[in-house]
Amino acid sequence: MEKNIKFPVIDLSKLNGEERDQTMALIDHACQNWGFFELVNHGLPYDLMVNIERMTKEHYKKHMEQKFKEMLRSKGLDTLETEVQDVDWESTFYLRHLPQSNLYDIPDMSNEYRLAMKDFGKMVENLAEELLDLLCENLGLEKGYLKKVFHGTTGPTFGTKVSNYPPCPKPEMIKGLRAHTDAGGLILLFQDDKVSGLQLLKDGDWVDVPPLKHSIVINLGDQLEVITNGKYKSVMHRVMTQKEGNRMSIASFYNPGSDAEISPATSLVEKDSKYPSFVFDDYMKLYAGLKFQAKEPRFEAMKNAEAATNLNPIAAVETF
Ligand code: OGA
Ligand code: NI
Repeated sequence: MEKNIKFPVIDLSKLNGEERDQTMALIDHACQNWGFFELVNHGLPYDLMVNIERMTKEHYKKHMEQKFKEMLRSKGLDTLETEVQDVDWESTFYLRHLPQSNLYDIPDMSNEYRLAMKDFGKMVENLAEELLDLLCENLGLEKGYLKKVFHGTTGPTFGTKVSNYPPCPKPEMIKGLRAHTDAGGLILLFQDDKVSGLQLLKDGDWVDVPPLKHSIVINLGDQLEVITNGKYKSVMHRVMTQKEGNRMSIASFYNPGSDAEISPATSLVEKDSKYPSFVFDDYMKLYAGLKFQAKEPRFEAMKNAEAATNLNPIAAVETF
């Protein structure tokens, strides 16, 4: 309970006033100690958020709920007798904004919903870039450093995962989304304003990220932990299922481009870094099979791959 009270909630509008230094310090503290924070007064229009939440719930009811129920039946999840460890109790679809939008390829979205998601995507992208620069400032990196690293040759990858976590008759048997860290860069989450479920791991305890109307939850992915040489943390989180209520969440992932070269920033490394250097896509290939495991073995595997390339550059070239 006490831990919930301390969960960092940051008023972004204070960056424009006397409390700027204090606010920057709160962001830095959250990045180092929580890997998560919740933003209020972030500049995203509330009426757009309210409309998107409504349309996401309507879209689920109209186009997704039936499919979700069929999925439950086909996977034998309609009767939960024992704990299920290999499936998530969620209904999702993905929108990609960058490098190329797939917004018009997604079936069953009304025009109004599509346009709202397009506007929202652009605004969240701008907020992500603003936040990356705040992180640079706190880290003593030049303005634009993170954006540049994420750019690669074709710009960042930016997409939105739209999820619904429907009510579950036996919440103790299955997670909405199993514990994981996010692979990418910065994640901006617009979560249900009433139904809770998101938890993060803090000093060995699961802590709720409580619903807060009109807020945006920010968390850092594995790439920011690597680039900051571990100063900032990518933190385990999960979604619990609930007996009552359908929780919606709209998670936008601002990630490096597929050929972006990721490595710890030189100014943040004292001697040798325990973090690897790699091409982002290679990390994603590894992550695909290991998402629901700890991040450390992933970092280690990339480090070993890097060492092998350095020891035997000819062989590495020949594999292409
Ligand atoms: C994710 C995630 C949380 C949520 O998709 O990686 O952590 O609340 N989502 O949907
Ligand atoms: Ni996640």
